[in-house]
Amino acid sequence: MQKIIFATGNENKLREVREIMRDLPCEICSMREAGLDPEIREDGDTFTENALIKARAVAAAAGPARGAIVMADDSGLEIDALNGEPGVHSARYMGEDTSYEIKNAALLKRMDQVPAEQRTARFVCAVAAVLPDGRELTVRETIEGRIGYEPRGGNGFGYDPIFYLPDLSVSTAELDPEDKNAISHRGKAMRAMAQKLAGVLS
Ligand code: IMP
Repeated sequence: MQKIIFATGNENKLREVREIMRDLPCEICSMREAGLDPEIREDGDTFTENALIKARAVAAAAGPARGAIVMADDSGLEIDALNGEPGVHSARYMGEDTSYEIKNAALLKRMDQVPAEQRTARFVCAVAAVLPDGRELTVRETIEGRIGYEPRGGNGFGYDPIFYLPDLSVSTAELDPEDKNAISHRGKAMRAMAQKLAGVLS
């Protein structure tokens, strides 16, 4: 069976990917399960570049005889009124160890004077795969929303409490995980990559 190494240390992402790709004839394992832990410098300018940087680094660490597909993702929040910030720096914004309560409060403060129609934002997720023969596949998906006026909801993680979906009148932190996966940037990107890989594996 084709092996896919998913370049993440995040168990939640791993579980989500296994669920989304469960119909593919493949076995998905983490970097740790594959015995890999390369140093990765995520210094790309775009989410797609960073996903490729991660996937290539793990593919290189696994060596030319790996036989496995290596997959990686990169995601974040783009706020239009802040010139796309925090963007590719979403995880590092104000420091990795700063709580999201503080990060979200700071972003809301920076958005203080921004009128409703200019509060547009999106979560972006890029997924890259490096195939055993060196071919590279990429997908990029988004979910569009608005920056709210106060944090709302206790589900999700990161910037979810300030990311508001006008059509549903909730923040993404107020959605159940399955409902979020059905419409989220990551859910859409993982399903798009699953489809591309299905073409390769058949
Ligand atoms: P990654 O794990 O390198 O892709 O980092 C993504 C960062 O972007 C996270 O640490 C969050 O700050 C933010 N982010 C990405 N997706 C979401 C989401 O679905 N909800 C909230 N924050 C997100």
